[in-house]
Amino acid sequence: MLDVPARMTTEAPPLADEPAVRKPNLLSVDDAKAMSLATMTDLFKSHINPGQLHFMKLLGFHKVKIETASGMYYTDQNGRRILDFFGGFGSLAVGHNHPRVIAARKAFQDEERHEIAIAFMSQYAAALAKNLAEIAPGDLDMVFLGSSGSEAMEAAIKVAERAAGAKRPKIVYAENSFHGKTKGVLSVTDSPLYRGEFRLTENGIKVPFGDIEAIRNAFESDPEIGVIVLETIQGGGGIIEAPATFWQQLRALCDKHDVLWIADEVQCGMGRSGRFFAFEFAGVVPDVTALAKSLGGGKTAMAAMIARREVYMKAYGTPKTAMIHAQATFGGIGEACVTAIEGLNVMYDEDLMGNAERVGDYLISELKRLQAKYPQIIKDVRGRGFMVGLEFQDFSQTLPALLRPMVGMLDDKLKGSLSGFVGAELLRDHDVLVAFTEYNRNVIRLEPPLTCETAHVDAFISALDQVLARGVARIVRDFIGAQVG
Ligand SMILES: Cc1ncc(COP(=O)(O)O)c(C=O)c1O
Repeated sequence: MLDVPARMTTEAPPLADEPAVRKPNLLSVDDAKAMSLATMTDLFKSHINPGQLHFMKLLGFHKVKIETASGMYYTDQNGRRILDFFGGFGSLAVGHNHPRVIAARKAFQDEERHEIAIAFMSQYAAALAKNLAEIAPGDLDMVFLGSSGSEAMEAAIKVAERAAGAKRPKIVYAENSFHGKTKGVLSVTDSPLYRGEFRLTENGIKVPFGDIEAIRNAFESDPEIGVIVLETIQGGGGIIEAPATFWQQLRALCDKHDVLWIADEVQCGMGRSGRFFAFEFAGVVPDVTALAKSLGGGKTAMAAMIARREVYMKAYGTPKTAMIHAQATFGGIGEACVTAIEGLNVMYDEDLMGNAERVGDYLISELKRLQAKYPQIIKDVRGRGFMVGLEFQDFSQTLPALLRPMVGMLDDKLKGSLSGFVGAELLRDHDVLVAFTEYNRNVIRLEPPLTCETAHVDAFISALDQVLARGVARIVRDFIGAQVG
């Protein structure tokens, strides 16, 4: 039984002293806060995504109702503290509920500042845009504010497409790319699953990620190519990087062929790599970039497209073209801007990028130590800062040599099983949350808040060590036991 009132089904005429439109059985904020886990599950099934519950059940996520969150930790309905190495896929640079971010939001509310005043300019949007232009290198100066990574990337593709011009409508994108799920960016997202059977734009040309020769060939053979879009570090692909020389050669090729380069920094940006933008490691500047996730200070939805001034002016620089892609209704609303402004200041005041670099190095070195200890289970450790991938061996490789050829035939089907088992057991037995990966499902992604300290890394490594020490057979048995138990 639900602990919510049943939905009204009949419409009786209002009585004389009743309002003309009767209030439906709406839940209050207090109802939402007090909701039981069972009701939450029922409502998720009835109104949000029944199919997704299947995966939550496999991983044990369906037993958790998060009540509060602070810094590196969630706290659930039973008072259990869960160490967050998932970090909302990179959305929590300053951690959960950073006190300065909360204080800025409270003051904004108490002062009755406005959120929406579309007719007028906004001092908050202006300040945030100025901060982003200040942080971004080169002449990445023009800012479009939105509320999701997909929206920022749509804006990036549109500004570049218009600046490239109608005669050069083709866009190069990478294998295993992820740029979002709205239809424009889905057209340059390389996932058969997400692409489904939607009718997408047909101007994309796919190349292997990090393959400069493939890009050179494409640019040389097709003069209609006007834009190339790449994540600087592929997240959904399983934390995949290209060397600095690739980005330097890409910049030179783009200049030679007059192609505009969009760097998607939605996941790897905002300091996660140890620099504000991951492309800064290569010492080059793209024509357009995009941020989201942590730009919202872990408290709100905020995203930005940042374009070189020349590119922006070509696309939308005159009164006649200015409104083609101007701010959407919620682009740059007050409290979201203030949250982002405070979050950016916190990142520099607390040296969170320096911390990501230092403690990220420590995390990677500790994971490599575990790789040396469990080479039959861990295949690779990679990444930089707090954007780290832990790749497990294919399932057959974890078994005795005799069984490998037989089970090897099933490796593709079993991809994601070992990472799933380990992730589920980390949560169940050690109160640690990690993230999984869309394309290479053998990879666990580690994207904790940039406030993560060595003590948190030690706690995580100790938990992982204890799970791996059980050996694959026991990990599988424990996982199956938890499913039937
Ligand atoms: C690299 C990258 N680009 C774009 C997006 C889309 O962002 P959003 O989910 O906020 O629409 C994501 C989200 O995971 C991402 O990782």
